[in-house]
Amino acid sequence: MKKEMKKILVTGSVGQIGSELTMELRQRYGAENVIATGRKTQPSEKLRNSGPFHFIDVTKIETVEEIVRKYDIDTVYHMAAILSAKGEQNPQLCWKVNIDGTINILELGLRYEMARIIIPSSIAVWGPGVPLDNTPQETVLKPTTMYGVTKVAGELLGDYYVRRFGLDVRGLRYPGIISHETLPGGGTTDYAVEIFYEAIDKRRYKCFLREDTMLPMMYMPDCIEATIRLAEADFSKLKHHCDFNVAAMSFTPAQLAAEIKKHIPEFEITYEPDFRQEIADSWPNSIDDSAAREEWGWQPKWDLASMTEDMIKHLKAKRGRS
Ligand code: SER
Repeated sequence: MKKEMKKILVTGSVGQIGSELTMELRQRYGAENVIATGRKTQPSEKLRNSGPFHFIDVTKIETVEEIVRKYDIDTVYHMAAILSAKGEQNPQLCWKVNIDGTINILELGLRYEMARIIIPSSIAVWGPGVPLDNTPQETVLKPTTMYGVTKVAGELLGDYYVRRFGLDVRGLRYPGIISHETLPGGGTTDYAVEIFYEAIDKRRYKCFLREDTMLPMMYMPDCIEATIRLAEADFSKLKHHCDFNVAAMSFTPAQLAAEIKKHIPEFEITYEPDFRQEIADSWPNSIDDSAAREEWGWQPKWDLASMTEDMIKHLKAKRGRS
């Protein structure tokens, strides 16, 4: 089996996390060694001009295999997925992309004796019956969304490929990810990004979750760091593989609004919960990530105050506001 990560394929590279992860991987491993792919959304100029980019469809294994062969891929960051809210609107598509796509990547991993495959999971794996505070690593997994169902199955599939075939597969359960580069699409935690754009552009935001909805969140620099740190961890030290809890901060919409008000005093928030409230209510408030800390040294750097300050600084510059 190949041991080194020399030629990296990123699926879902046009997405919220994929776009920034690709740029960071290009910095670390060389631009020509990181092959960015997407399904149909055009990549930003930054992404397209910084290294190879191809359109593929993870549900069609031959389109992925062509790229794996062309570049002799040994590592995959499989970021392509349909998120929770979009998944409820189109459960079939969610299953197809998240399940067929994942097993296609794992099969190619075996076929081409890849060194490593990273498949993210999510806080959406949890549902009724889970302790909501400090949710433990090992606990009941009974999600009520199709997205959650596919993420539990993805974790189990990945662990199965580790055990049955000795393939090196790893994954972590992302909380809601906050960033200023690429907008998230179709998630329940998206409010925590939208709110910043609206606060800067309009000084007001209508939130689709209730004011007291506490959810685990993470700022993008921590998300990228966690992902690459797990990918680079010594395999022999890992007791878990595809289901690491990772935490950074937890807050409610009201707490985030209060933090934003410290920088934009005129900011006003109103609440009009929609179908996403039920999804959010099925997820934990906070997470115990001691396994990630012990097994690969996870340590978040950003909290609510520092993240809010940084988001506003970057978005003001981007939107040309003072
Ligand atoms: N951010 C995701 C969502 O809201 C959770 O993994 O669907």
